[in-house]
Parts: sequence; structure tokens; C-alpha cells
Amino acid sequence: MKADMSDIAINGINLAYTRRGTGTPLLLIHGFPLDSSSWDEVIPFMEDQFDLVIPDLRGFGRSTTIKSPYTISDMADDLAGLLDHLGIEKTNLAGHSMGGYVALAFAKKYSHRVDGLALVSSQAAADPADRKEGRYKTAAEVAEKGVSVVVESMTPKLSANTRVQSIVREVISRQSVDGVVGALKAMAEREDTSSILPSGTFRVVLIHGDADVLIPADRSREIKAASPSATLVELKNAGHMPMMEFFRETAEILGMMAG
Ligand code: MLT
Repeated sequence: MKADMSDIAINGINLAYTRRGTGTPLLLIHGFPLDSSSWDEVIPFMEDQFDLVIPDLRGFGRSTTIKSPYTISDMADDLAGLLDHLGIEKTNLAGHSMGGYVALAFAKKYSHRVDGLALVSSQAAADPADRKEGRYKTAAEVAEKGVSVVVESMTPKLSANTRVQSIVREVISRQSVDGVVGALKAMAEREDTSSILPSGTFRVVLIHGDADVLIPADRSREIKAASPSATLVELKNAGHMPMMEFFRETAEILGMMAG
């Protein structure tokens, strides 16, 4: 565990997290198949404005998991329990990709606890049938051959930047088979959450790389079209990992959620 990580027992798992900085509460939720270290490069630019809570989702990093099936909504429940433990009633959330699905599930179930929601390289749409089927196929391959399957298939799609590729390759390699399989099945079964964002009850910020090959920027443009009050920032030449590829810019955009 990183020196500054703590953990709590919740919903049958141990959930590991870091808390950094002071200011407006902001939960930073990592994507698949990564862990809380995804945010390491933005933290130094944000900790003077935000009370940052940075968990490893169940099955990733230092958090344990139970055998699947479990849902994206179960992951959101883990985070609600973490906030209860930390005495944070209301917060902003920034979710990267799968972390965005978790943030949306959180907003659906606990809207009264949400001040603002940022989606980084994410989407509100559910999986089409072929994508869903592909996830189950990948889950079966990972169960049989290990996480090297996703190291090879995902690294080039996450970023074209070789520095970022070498970091994510290492991060994916240290994830567990159960965590990766559980998350693939949870993502496959997630609901469409498009109706949550136009409610206008909290601020919405969308960050998307125009060179994202995993989740095209069109997904954020669609959210913006349905929720005109949302702020959409498209990062030129960024792939799926803006918080690593353009960390200063990403920190600055997330800074909109302060105060
Ligand atoms: C992620 O980066 O979290 C995943 O690629 C999201 C997905 O596969 O839908």
C-alpha cells in the first residue's frame, strides 16, 4: 500500500483510499483496468483547492473484492460508505471512464450528496449488444490467461503517448484477475444513465480528448447537447488518459468545481 493510503472494511471488501489537500470535497474515481495512481500527476495542482478523496475501486489497486457478479452501483455504494466514514455528506465527483460510470451510478442513487460531477473520457450510454458480448469474451480470456490479455489489448488504446503507455502498462499488470473480470461484467451490465445529467441539480463538467479511440468524444458531445448547462472541454490531441497526457490542463479544468 502507498505510504499515505488508508483502508476501511465495507460491503464485504477492504476499500483503500488516499485523502489529500484541503478545500472543496472532490472524489477522484479511476477507470478500468487502472487504480488510484491514475490521478497522481494532477494531485499536486489541485490539493490547495480541494479536499481530495482518491479511492481504489473494489478489485483494483489495494482494494480487495468479492467474486463477481457485482454491479457498478455496488461500487457506488462502496464510495457512499467511504464518504460516511470520512464524515463528508456532499461532494463533487470526477470519474475517469469506468469511474464516470460509477460517478453516474452514485448520482442516480445519492443525488442529494452531489455538488458537481465531472466525466473525464466517459459516457452515459450503456453498452450496445456487441460491446457487451465482447466484455464477457474478454472476461473469460482474462480468467483463463491472466491480466496480460488486457495489458496487451488496452495499452495502445489508452494513449498514443509512449510515456503514458509505459506507466499504464505497469499499472494494468499489477491488477488482479478477479478485479478485472468483476469490473468487465459490471460494465457490461450497467444501465444507461443519460437521463440523470439534464436534471440541473448539480454542475456538470465534461472533459474529452479528441483523439480518444476507446470512447469517442461524440459521447460527451451528446451529453452536452442534452444538457446545455454542462461545460464541455475537448482537449486537442489527447487520447483516453487526459489526466496523464495533459495533466496541468486537466487539473485546471477540474478546478472549475472548486468553491
Ligand atoms: C475505462 O477506461 O475505464 C474503460 O475503457 C471504459 C470502458 O471500457 O467502457
